[in-house]
Amino acid sequence: MENFKTNIAKDFVDKEVTLKGWVANFRSSGKISFLQLRDGYGVIQAIIAQSEIDESIWEMVSTLTMESSVIVKGMISKHPKKEEYELQVSGLELVQLADEYPISKKEHGPDFLLDNRHLWLRSSRQVAIQKIRNTIINAIYEYLNINGFIKIDSPILTPNACEGTTELFEMDYFGERKAYLSQSGQLYLEAAISAHSKVFDFGPVFRAEKSKTRRHLTEFWMMDAEMAWAEHEDNLKVQEELISHIVEKVIELNTIELNILERDIEKLSKIKAPFVRMTHAEAVKKLNGLGSDIKKDEDLGGDDETLLTSDLDVPVFVTHWPAEIKAFYMKRSEDGKLALCDDMIAPEGFGEIIGGSQREDDHDELLKRIREHKLPEKEFQWYLDIRKYGSVPHSGFGIGLERLVGWMCGTKHVRETIPFPRMINRLEP
Ligand code: 4AD
Ligand code: MG
Repeated sequence: MENFKTNIAKDFVDKEVTLKGWVANFRSSGKISFLQLRDGYGVIQAIIAQSEIDESIWEMVSTLTMESSVIVKGMISKHPKKEEYELQVSGLELVQLADEYPISKKEHGPDFLLDNRHLWLRSSRQVAIQKIRNTIINAIYEYLNINGFIKIDSPILTPNACEGTTELFEMDYFGERKAYLSQSGQLYLEAAISAHSKVFDFGPVFRAEKSKTRRHLTEFWMMDAEMAWAEHEDNLKVQEELISHIVEKVIELNTIELNILERDIEKLSKIKAPFVRMTHAEAVKKLNGLGSDIKKDEDLGGDDETLLTSDLDVPVFVTHWPAEIKAFYMKRSEDGKLALCDDMIAPEGFGEIIGGSQREDDHDELLKRIREHKLPEKEFQWYLDIRKYGSVPHSGFGIGLERLVGWMCGTKHVRETIPFPRMINRLEP
């Protein structure tokens, strides 16, 4: 039989088991002690009756502290009324008696919790968030594998910018030149589509963003996907299908965690393709009608994103942005004024989750853009080269993992969605 884990306790009723775990909480009422034991798969209540156990163990139980590590033996029983299982303890071995644990049940401020992130990760909400993050990562891989995408690992050290030079982390490269931490693997994926047609990467990216908002990290995880022979509308279809698949998986696999987080599952279950489509001009008009003072050539602020989806159950694709406020690599509409791009904005105020576009596939047009954006031509030679040897229409997009996790979990600040957040004012622990 499989080793005992708390999440499969129902398969072990009336059986003798061994649990290796941590004391998440405890209380005592005279001759009975109750331990909440966490084993990494869930939490179970262990019941220790003084009458059923050696005197020396009973004495040791009375000295147990929060987060002490223990190996417990006992019998699994089912709660007479509820779908809950308990461990009737017959033996207990103390592995390490924990020092006084700094995180208690009382309210702590975010700075204190972030300073203790190495411990905070054990709290039930934090455990739930990381479990959902894991489901999302797997669901992304699953969707891409089923749909014929090949994983191409893009470099992290790069000679050039992808998303604009103002947010680049710069480093010294052997005292000889500058290198930059990747903002997105997109440009490298564009090179790989002529070899594999549909490709993706998934890894950490870096933005030296000075913004201190609840949606910005300086290191975050991005999945970039890139497809040959795909135009703007094809791109949107893949994005909405992928998101729908992820939501389905989270609901299927993480009901326990969603309940711990008090996430409204009803709201999640409405997220199904097709999503709403709206041009940037239409979005600005709608926003102006709702009281925003956004102008027709402006980016959407965080408040605009929230306002725009306030009457929607599904995300909205804001497409066809004024070309001058979007990235250099985006293909433009016939008249050259609009970018064939999309920002996918999640409902409930979770903001922009995906940025994507069709790419400029004409060599001379792209060169013109690189010059207009004053980007170093030499460093982009390889990128221009791709347009010389069998250039094809192609499109792609990038998902910000932390914002997606935040949305699924109903967590407003992205700092809780990554194990060890990096922000403008935080590099520790
Ligand atoms: O919209 P962005 O900047 O798009 C790109 O980087 C494209 N090269 C992607 C591509 O087409 N392959 O970033 C993509 C997503 C955003 O929609 C957002 O979810 C997330 O990455 N993101 C951030 N997440 C956390 N902190 C930040 N500072 C982020 N900046 C972007
Ligand atoms: Mg964007």
